[in-house]
Amino acid sequence: MPEISLSELAQACGGDLVRGNPEQRVGTFVIDTRRLERGGAFFALQGERTDGHRFLGDASSRGAAVAVVQRLPEEGQPAPEGLIRVEDVLAALASCGAGVRRSLQGKKWIAMTGSNGKTTTKELLATALAAGARVHRTPGNFNNHLGVPLTLLACPDDAEVAVLELAMSGHGEIARLARMVDPDIGVLTNVRAAHLQAFDSLDDIAAAKGELFAVMRPDATAVINLDDSHVRVQAARHVGPRVTFGQNPAADLRVTEIQNRFYPGTVMVFAHANRSYRVKLRIGGAHSAFNALAAAATVVAAGGDLERSLERMEQVDAAPGRGRVHRLPGGMLLVDDTYNSSPAALASVLDTLRISQPSGRKVLVMGDMLELGRMEGALHREAGKRAAAAGVKLLFAVGQLSRAAAETARRAGVPEVHHHADSKKAAESIAEFLKEGDLIVVKGSRGMRMERVVHALTAGREDVH
Ligand SMILES: Nc1ncnc2c1ncn2[C@@H]1O[C@H](COP(=O)(O)OP(=O)(O)OP(=O)(O)O)[C@@H](O)[C@H]1O
Ligand SMILES: [Mg+2]
Repeated sequence: MPEISLSELAQACGGDLVRGNPEQRVGTFVIDTRRLERGGAFFALQGERTDGHRFLGDASSRGAAVAVVQRLPEEGQPAPEGLIRVEDVLAALASCGAGVRRSLQGKKWIAMTGSNGKTTTKELLATALAAGARVHRTPGNFNNHLGVPLTLLACPDDAEVAVLELAMSGHGEIARLARMVDPDIGVLTNVRAAHLQAFDSLDDIAAAKGELFAVMRPDATAVINLDDSHVRVQAARHVGPRVTFGQNPAADLRVTEIQNRFYPGTVMVFAHANRSYRVKLRIGGAHSAFNALAAAATVVAAGGDLERSLERMEQVDAAPGRGRVHRLPGGMLLVDDTYNSSPAALASVLDTLRISQPSGRKVLVMGDMLELGRMEGALHREAGKRAAAAGVKLLFAVGQLSRAAAETARRAGVPEVHHHADSKKAAESIAEFLKEGDLIVVKGSRGMRMERVVHALTAGREDVH
């Protein structure tokens, strides 16, 4: 972002510059002193576990020009030279983010939300658009009430397009973030059972995600997954232009063929404006085809060069834990999908597993799916049945909830089932049960740390790609 003076920053924060040079300029903004650049601004957030005000001394010694605080430092407590006092640092951060967005006109702002695949779609899209424009994107998974304003504050002056991932854990959050971003294009990838805790039903989740469409300007473009009935319903909340994608015959970008596999990546063919496009991804699974299609639809909405964009998308690798494939000795393949899990994400991976034909067995290492609220028991039992239907011959169930999955899987005919309390235990014993030619998928919620299993099996080995 352009540099602003401390007095402008105080104004953007809705606070008072209680000390420091009002003319001094800052251009970088952090909430973690370890990320401070000399001459930058530090927002001292009061979190549940840590209080940023404790790090004012650290901010000072790392050269922060200014700290935004809601409590002034005590007499003698080291702190940056500049201090802006606000009532609420979190609100100040949000208002600065919104202020930056207002000041940066003339760019294309793209906001993306959905239950699954946001980060992957964002990476595919940002890489695709970079074929013809300077693109700023959400770094990693910086998608919440902190990450979104920080992403806005980090937007370079000369970026032409900004792609932001928005996430939520309750009603009203997407509306707040979307207002902050004020997107020219809003994308809703899908509505699924994920992060369910704060919600009663899928309709309820859909309504919260649909806030994106509800707050978009009428001249903004909605990118709509036409295969998802919840997304279709939510799309009615936007009256302006739209681009649709899916298998649905009415979709503007319509999938006509998917070669669904883990390795060497999914192939998708889709039709758009009387032409057919074939995309050979480096990322596996049918869901990757839909993520790429969502990204392609957004390129169309942005008026980008579709052909060049697709060429760029073909170069995108699976991010760590999001479907990365490793080759193990003995012709074994390991799919590392340990970043996260949810019923829809697991179902998608099991679908690919079902049609895979390894020379050995299909092996699933399944960790608990967390944050599912009162549906968690039923959803884990269902997952066990799906594993059996996918032809899993060896199941490692990890965690308390997955015990139910282990039981239904056993009853549904999975011949060998083991249960472990945690991923550390599973990681210690799994190697001895594997055989030549096995195809092993490892998946679980973030909190289950299923990557321990992957590390135990891949230590010192190269990725396939
Ligand atoms: N379109 C999709 N449908 C179902 N599952 C998907 C889809 N895309 C990705 N997944 C699954 O979700 C996992 C996480 O992908 P990704 O990080 O892109 O999602 P996200 O929506 O950004 O997640 P988060 O809510 O944690 O930010 C992937 O490893 C994959 O298993
Ligand atoms: Mg994400």
